[in-house]
Amino acid sequence: MGDAAGRSSTAKERWKILGNALRGKKSAASSDVSVRRFADFNLFSKSPFPNDDSTSAEDDGHTWVEYCWTCGESAALRIRHLTESVTAKDMIGFNNTGNVCVWPSEEILAHYLLTVRDVFRGKSVCELGGGMTCLAGLALSASVPLGKLLLTDGNQRSADNIACVLAANHDRMRTQSYSSRCLLWSRSCAYENLCQQFDFLVCADCFFFTEFHIDLIHVVKTLLKPDGKAIFFAPQRSGTLSRFTELAKEEFNVSVASEYNDIVQAQRQQAVKCSDSGYTEDLHYPLLVELTFKATAQ
Ligand SMILES: C[S@@+](CC[C@H](N)C(=O)[O-])C[C@H]1O[C@@H](n2cnc3c(N)ncnc32)[C@H](O)[C@@H]1O
Repeated sequence: MGDAAGRSSTAKERWKILGNALRGKKSAASSDVSVRRFADFNLFSKSPFPNDDSTSAEDDGHTWVEYCWTCGESAALRIRHLTESVTAKDMIGFNNTGNVCVWPSEEILAHYLLTVRDVFRGKSVCELGGGMTCLAGLALSASVPLGKLLLTDGNQRSADNIACVLAANHDRMRTQSYSSRCLLWSRSCAYENLCQQFDFLVCADCFFFTEFHIDLIHVVKTLLKPDGKAIFFAPQRSGTLSRFTELAKEEFNVSVASEYNDIVQAQRQQAVKCSDSGYTEDLHYPLLVELTFKATAQ
């Protein structure tokens, strides 16, 4: 199937699942309420995990999954996934597209951060638009002691789930100072307490919302320390990544890389070869985008 035809059938499939979800019907893919066909790059092994408070992995519209990795050292996290149907309130109004599963970009961001984890030792890190799990920020903090960790998403339901996940992984955090909150990107917000607080901002798959590009750039400008760095992973998604980077170039040094990790590269080649994986480079292959402030004239 060509790229355009592939995208169109994927889009139809998504709308069908979303339509069913809003009508309260179960879709074939609703076991993890996934609205994508390509699953992931296989960078983490996942298995159902009973929550401490119950004997089953099911928990009131959620399921607990243990994510394990062997990148550097073996470690694991308990992640709470949504299993119940999404509601109109979850999906409409505030553009919350995609906030129902962990996307390949989030797993790649997590994997990448783990491979370069020593860079973050003792540093302050904030994850933006972390979806239901903030997997990347959590995995980093489970692997290296950070100076401070803040996990965020602009959707309250996600922020609640992130708080729950954080509490469940309390004993696995190597960072003393960590928290989560609902953080909406808005150019009219001064983010007083967070101003210039972070050495690193990390973010996965958040360029899709072109109407929020200016707001996201405002958040980066406000939260990042003058010598800090913002690390994004996102697929091109019909040129939305390029639109973001063009805008960001007005204020930042911007670098974009497509080959940043040998293991990811090998998985990418595997996905391209496997014709029935549903893999589409434009939708699924995340590029690495880094922003640093331009030097100010003396
Ligand atoms: C495609 S999801 C990606 C989630 C996660 N990073 C992942 O890759 O699995 C995009 C996320 O951005 C968040 N988001 C969208 N617009 C936002 C805004 N204006 N402010 C804050 N978060 C926003 C959504 O709530 C959603 O969780």
